[in-house]
Order: sequence, then structure tokens, then C-alpha cells
Amino acid sequence: MDDLREKYLGLIAGAADEAALEALRVEAVGKKGEISLKMRELGRMTPEERQVAGPALNALKDEINAALAAKKAGLADAALDDRLRAEWLDVTLPGRDRRAGSIHPVSQVWEEVTAIFAELGFAVAEGPQIESDWHNFDALNIPGHHSSREEMDTFYMARAEGDDRPPHVLRTHTSPVQIRSMELQGAPLRIICPGRVFRSDYDQTHTPMFHQLEGLAIDTDISMANLKWCLEEFAARLFNVEKIEVRFRASHFPFTEPSAEIDFRCSWVDGQLRLGEGDDWLEAGGSGMVHPNVLRAGGIDPEVYQGFAFGLGIDRLAMLKYGIPDLRAFFESDIRWLRQYGFRALDVPTLRAG
Ligand code: DAH
Repeated sequence: MDDLREKYLGLIAGAADEAALEALRVEAVGKKGEISLKMRELGRMTPEERQVAGPALNALKDEINAALAAKKAGLADAALDDRLRAEWLDVTLPGRDRRAGSIHPVSQVWEEVTAIFAELGFAVAEGPQIESDWHNFDALNIPGHHSSREEMDTFYMARAEGDDRPPHVLRTHTSPVQIRSMELQGAPLRIICPGRVFRSDYDQTHTPMFHQLEGLAIDTDISMANLKWCLEEFAARLFNVEKIEVRFRASHFPFTEPSAEIDFRCSWVDGQLRLGEGDDWLEAGGSGMVHPNVLRAGGIDPEVYQGFAFGLGIDRLAMLKYGIPDLRAFFESDIRWLRQYGFRALDVPTLRAG
């Protein structure tokens, strides 16, 4: 019995882990364990022998069970210590910010253009996305029969049966905000309106919802020269270049006279856009001097005041600035795309930081 005690207490003390300990338990005190087998021999002993050997074997079994339990507790403590050492977490480390949501490139550019025009003295104006037919078309000198009503692939709202008033529309451009701003504030006026617009159109370069930036400046001494300077200043700051040349191309819009398309001088080198240099021209949007009928519709006297207006595509500016090829991906909410092109939430655009 002394040999057994020594053997098992030694083995238990040296067990490396709980599995080894369990194997020892089975070997010593399991059903067919060495000590259990010894206990079976008690039956073959004389009563006198049994009186000595029985309690001694029981005591040995208890001693070994106690040693197993103590070692098991020790191993568990050691295992926990190992885990605590291996899995410690430094809660003072900064968070993993890429796991957080990101700012959509459209929102980013929206903020950028707002910051730039704010520096140039323009306030941000807003108007409803569900717009009256009058604000969206008539007041902008687009009469009922005019072709641009059809060209704009308008979404019309439903009217109640028997109501013959013209239906409201999802605004097809941000230009109605010109009228609403004139109505609200009168002249002089200097506003931009970044906003959502809607047209029934869908392909690689058209989505049914997209974003425009409207600009409007009204005063007693406004000319196309002021417009050109503002656009050049704006583009140079947005694209972070020293100077950008703007070219006016004669055009026609019902709400401006004269009207001009805005082109930026650029070059394409290996599929990469460079602004401010080269012999190519990039179409950026429409502009012109506000038509007297539009000023009148907004309650402003065209004999006293005149103004310039322009309309640019925000999504297009974002694609150009950040090299994003497909417009439709903007609105598919693909988390991988948002991770690639999104901006960190606290990276707020400013003129100094870009
Ligand atoms: N509203 C026009 C469009 O959506 C863009 C535009 C052109 C706006 C000329 C203007 C402008 O303010 O003067 O196509």
C-alpha cells in the first residue's frame, strides 16, 4: 500500500493537464483501477486481515481522491492564469474605426462644396423634394408645352380623383429652389442648394435619384464675369489645384439668357483625369444669367436686379474627384464599396484640411 501511495501521489503531482489527471484517476480508483482491484481482494481475506486492510485501503482511496481534486483545482487555476495572460485586452487602445460606418462620397463632396461656397459668401438654401409643377417648371420659364418637361422624364405624384389641379412632381432639378429663395428672401441673394433630384432614367450614367448643386447670385451689378470667377475659384479649391480654366459654351436653358455650358480645362493621362492643364474640356454643368421671367416669378424686379445661376452634378463631381467609375454603385449600399470609397466620420472637410 505504501508503494501504491507513493506511486500515485507522485504521478498526480507531476500530471501536466486535466486529461493526464483523468487518466490517472481511471488507472488508480476507476472501476478497474489498481486500488479498486485491491479492494476486491478483501473478499478473499480472513476477517482479521480484512479488518486491517479494509480501512487502510479506504483511507488510501480517500487520500488519492483528495490529491486528484487538489491537483485538478491547481491545474484549473493555472489554466485560467494562462488564459488571462494570453487574452488580455488593453481597453486604452484606440477603437478600430474602420469597423464603424463611413461617410458616403456624395455626403463628403456635399460637405466640401458647401464649405467652399460658404467661404465665397453663399448661404445654403433648401426646398421640398416633392415640388409643385409651378415651381419645378412654369416659374422657371418652362411652359406647359415645352420639350424639357418630357426630356426630364418626370415622376408625377397622383392626385385624388376629381382633383384637376396639376399634379406635384418629384423635383427634376434643384432650380425650383431659386424661386423659393427669391420668394422667401428677395434680393440681393447669394445661395447654393445641394439636393436630391429625381428622373425616370436608369443606366450606367443615370440613376432615378441623383444630386445637384444649384447656385444663384442676385444683385444690381452681377455679370457673367462674376459667374466665371466663382466657378473657377470653386473648381480650383474642390480639385486642389492652383488654377482651373473655365470655358463657357453657348447653350440654351429656358431659365437663363444668355445660357452657357460650363467646361473645365483638363487632360486625361493613362485614364487619369488632370484638371487645370491639357487640351481637353470636361463638361461640368449648365449656367447663365437668370431670365427676367424667372426673376419676375420670384417677385424680383428685373429692371433693378440681375443674377447668375448654375447647376452642377454632385455625384459627377464625386466620381471625378475620387476616381469612382460607375454611378450606380453609389446607391447600391454594398458594404465593400462603402469601405473602399467611404470617409472616416470625424474627417470633416474644411478648406484648410481638404
Ligand atoms: N436645371 C438644369 C438641369 O437640371 C441645370 C442648370 C442649368 C441649372 C443652367 C442652372 C442653370 O441654374 O443656370 O439640367
